[in-house]
Amino acid sequence: MSDLVAVAYSSVACRSFSEAELFELSQQAAARNLLLEVTGYLHFKAGTFFQYLEGQSGSVADLMESIRRDPRHKVVNEVDLGLLTERAFPSWSMRYLPQHQLVELSLDVVAEHIITNTDTRIYGVARSRERILSIIRKISQFRTRIDSLR
Ligand SMILES: Cc1cc2nc3c(=O)[nH]c(=O)nc-3n(C[C@H](O)[C@H](O)[C@H](O)COP(=O)(O)O)c2cc1C
Repeated sequence: MSDLVAVAYSSVACRSFSEAELFELSQQAAARNLLLEVTGYLHFKAGTFFQYLEGQSGSVADLMESIRRDPRHKVVNEVDLGLLTERAFPSWSMRYLPQHQLVELSLDVVAEHIITNTDTRIYGVARSRERILSIIRKISQFRTRIDSLR
């Protein structure tokens, strides 16, 4: 069995996306991720995607290759978050987190902060990783409350 790892990236959308399209994208992603046993979440703000992915290293690497090739966006910053001891989002095959839900739980600021932290030139790789993982742990604690939102 391979290692449990996590990756986070930010990307720039190559066109506009409606909320319905973002939801559909995440539904399609979730269907494939279920087979790959990859979990995580997707956020979109002002033309920028942020995605957090966790799973067995081979599955995450294969998926990242597909995602990098996708012409709908351009991956700009990718951070290898290293080995995990457990998943942060075990029940989320790919949860799209709309901005209004983040605002409702006062998670919008940290969710945007995490995007800034994917730029490893700002703090260096080790600090970026640490900061991203710390925000991921925080968002993970809100899982049940997020699931109860509409
Ligand atoms: C922002 C973004 C996030 C995506 N996330 C996933 C994902 O988590 N899982 C997935 O299977 N596809 C995801 N996709 C779609 C993939 O990029 C790709 O289209 C799909 O996996 C099919 O891969 P293939 O072209 O290699 O067959 C995402 C696409 C975008 C634009």
